[in-house]
Amino acid sequence: MALNDRYRPRYHFTAPQNWINDPNGLVQWRGRYHLYYQHNPNAAYWGDMHWGHAVSTDLMQWEHLPFAIYPDQAYDQSGVYSGIAVPTADDVLFFYTGVNGPDELPCLATASDDLLLKPEKHANNPLFHRPADLDLLFFRDHAIVQHQGSWYQVVGTGIRDQGGNCVLYRSDDLLTWEYMHPLVQPDQLGKDDIGVTGWECPDFFPLGDVWVLIVSHWNQDPLRVWAYIGTFDGERFTPLHGQLIDHANAIYAPQSFTDASGRRIQFGWLRETRPVAAHTADGWAGAMTLPRELFITAQGRLGVRPVAEVLGHVAFRPVSIGEETGIWMDVDTGDIDATSCVLRMRGGFEMEVLRSPDGAEVTTLTCSSETGEIVLDTTNSSLDADVAQERAVWTIDPAADVLVFIDRSVIEVYADNQCAAVRVYPTRDDATGIRFRSTGELAVELGEVTGPSPSVHS
Ligand code: FRU
Repeated sequence: MALNDRYRPRYHFTAPQNWINDPNGLVQWRGRYHLYYQHNPNAAYWGDMHWGHAVSTDLMQWEHLPFAIYPDQAYDQSGVYSGIAVPTADDVLFFYTGVNGPDELPCLATASDDLLLKPEKHANNPLFHRPADLDLLFFRDHAIVQHQGSWYQVVGTGIRDQGGNCVLYRSDDLLTWEYMHPLVQPDQLGKDDIGVTGWECPDFFPLGDVWVLIVSHWNQDPLRVWAYIGTFDGERFTPLHGQLIDHANAIYAPQSFTDASGRRIQFGWLRETRPVAAHTADGWAGAMTLPRELFITAQGRLGVRPVAEVLGHVAFRPVSIGEETGIWMDVDTGDIDATSCVLRMRGGFEMEVLRSPDGAEVTTLTCSSETGEIVLDTTNSSLDADVAQERAVWTIDPAADVLVFIDRSVIEVYADNQCAAVRVYPTRDDATGIRFRSTGELAVELGEVTGPSPSVHS
């Protein structure tokens, strides 16, 4: 089937075709980064979950490989849902959720070849069943971490009448798992969790001197992803504070891993925010965020920035900003595609991107040089009344650089260790303009993403 690539990002990861959702099995193995992902190989809507697979040496340019793990056993015949990779000295263990009708079952598959092409499913799958003493709404998605000589596994869930939580297991050998109890004491669930019935895709790891638990809030409107910073004593995770992982609503189900250099690197799924019929007809759906590095800031919060490899692929040139403040300046992008480029701003500004000449379609970003308030607004991004809109507002240090990644239907903004990603679907072919006006001191650079087209669609 021919794809309609009009909204397809060029330097953000997408599958060769059809549907993707969560990143899975992130790992660096024998010099290559592996990105597996939830994938429907037959259609551009959710269903028949397989693990797609791609490899990269720089986290930006990906080579697509055959499906890695897919339903071929009784216990995963209804779908191979999300999971993670645990590298050991000799092999990589993939823990995933096998689905068989209503049953969600923790399963293992192992690979040791250089490309981790086809992990072999373990003879004793499923490894365990949901605990009988809890009334769980679901039981899926896994995180595994080594701590004080033991392996700990958490599985995402919602406890009926209590809310989102994870179920905690312990193991000495990664094969036999002993059930402990819920990861978080219910009385520790802070106000951020009110009304949140379940946590999908837990990501749980130590970072600096603290522990981080990232969870996707299941079945909420809007869907949101929270990070909790806290402590873990081998028994319970005690959250000290919570924050959004991203100030906008396109991201879901992010996963992170530690690479050989010790960086904690995250990818998130950027959902389509348009009707299912529209992306089904286009033949592709879903993209990944840029690779994001997670770290603890001086203020003790979870910081997010693009990994260095991202800007390593960007060639910037200065943009002339004129003499006076407050005058709209059109950016002449020359040979750079204005729908797939990068802007780096410092100072106070109002900016309009993906703008039709008459302004009927426009995505706006403003940043106050006084208060540091940023507003990313997709209210007028599309004349199509069926696509979602949002207005994300947050605050940064006004002295910080603001990086704006425009990539067809994806816009990501990074500044001062925070970020926001949105999806936009302008209908008009001439919605390509970029203009800005300064509201104070301002420097602007325009960047081209260089190198071979990063998402090589074989
Ligand atoms: C999150 C999720 C996971 C599940 C997977 C199925 O987007 O619902 O909980 O494992 O997607 O595709």
